[in-house]
Amino acid sequence: MARINDNFLKLKAGYLFPEIARRVNAYTTANPDAAKKLIRCGIGDVTEPLPESVRQAMHDAVDEQGNRETFRGYGPEQGYDFLREAIAENQFKEVGISADEIFISDGSKCDTGNILDIFGPGNKIAITDPVYPVYVDTNVMAGNTGDADSNGAYEGLVYLPCTAENQFVPAIPEEKVDLIYLCYPNNPTGATATRDQLEAWVKYARENKAIILYDAAYEAFVQESDVPKSIFEIEGAKECAMEFRSFSKNGGFTGVRCAYVIIPKALKGTTEDGTEVPIHQLWSRRHSTKFNGASYPVQRGAAAVFSEQGKKEVADLIEHYMGNAKLLREACEKLGLQVFGGINAPYVWVGCPESVDSWGMFDRMLEEANVVITPGAGFGAAGEGYFRISAFNSRENVEEVCRRIAENLG
Ligand code: MLT
Repeated sequence: MARINDNFLKLKAGYLFPEIARRVNAYTTANPDAAKKLIRCGIGDVTEPLPESVRQAMHDAVDEQGNRETFRGYGPEQGYDFLREAIAENQFKEVGISADEIFISDGSKCDTGNILDIFGPGNKIAITDPVYPVYVDTNVMAGNTGDADSNGAYEGLVYLPCTAENQFVPAIPEEKVDLIYLCYPNNPTGATATRDQLEAWVKYARENKAIILYDAAYEAFVQESDVPKSIFEIEGAKECAMEFRSFSKNGGFTGVRCAYVIIPKALKGTTEDGTEVPIHQLWSRRHSTKFNGASYPVQRGAAAVFSEQGKKEVADLIEHYMGNAKLLREACEKLGLQVFGGINAPYVWVGCPESVDSWGMFDRMLEEANVVITPGAGFGAAGEGYFRISAFNSRENVEEVCRRIAENLG
């Protein structure tokens, strides 16, 4: 019989969002009236239509594919130059990232998981708690952890607690770690890291020859001018960090799929005998072997995000979602709940009312308000006592959610 990867058996329950969908389906099947009223503010999935500039660029690209003269087959695995150059020019000009340090993919979820292919065994891995569950689960699958304890914490991972006291930015660890996952603006707490905090992390990473895996999928939602949008704004980061970015949340590509990783050529890891090897070369090799590139029409659509019209349309989308976040924040604040995030991120992170835990809150919101939220405990033990409301929705739905919050939690 074929031998399986036993590590998969260490995973606790299902992946968070399918697990939530399963519970919601069970409830709505048993309560069809509630199903009709249900509003989903759980998974951070965009709701507003794709920008017109993006759709037009994709239509044009599809037409090119219908014509022998302009038809394109396999593209470059690392992404087309027109998109890599547009990203370098529009997103990283000031920090000096070049187009060939950018690798196009079909999503940041895949990138943050797949990146483990190029790291060897024995790395000490630090993750924040609460955290985007992909970082943890992919490390479990890769065999980088032992079993989970009764709190769901995996042996071998270094958990960096993010709490209201540290404003959801973890303290620098006292021990030496090799890989550090940081995500700012943060999913799930909506927190941001200051320049000083990121400088401290870069200093730590350089001193310890660690690599920061910086997830900046929500950078477009930053509203305050002093909040860093990229780890590469910090001096020295090119020698100790890579960054993940996505078109999912800014351009509304969750159903279209396009993202990218920035791996500076100066970033290095070591072999067992201490020889230094550029990470860029390994990821390039991995990408060409296991990936045939995001589709041509999708990459054309992504490039349109950087056109004059595209920038305006994306700005309107961000304004819409951040307007929602403001309403959700205010609705929770009015009830005297502890509220975080929602200022530079599309997630509002709310303290549960006393005596309700986060899955209890999930049930209560589902059953009494017919609103799906995400329980904080789903993001890690330190998420207990909180719930996350996603601002990705229509204005009408968000206004209704605010009414229901006032009615049911007031
Ligand atoms: C979330 O809700 O945390 C995100 O939508 C998950 C994701 O982007 O994969």
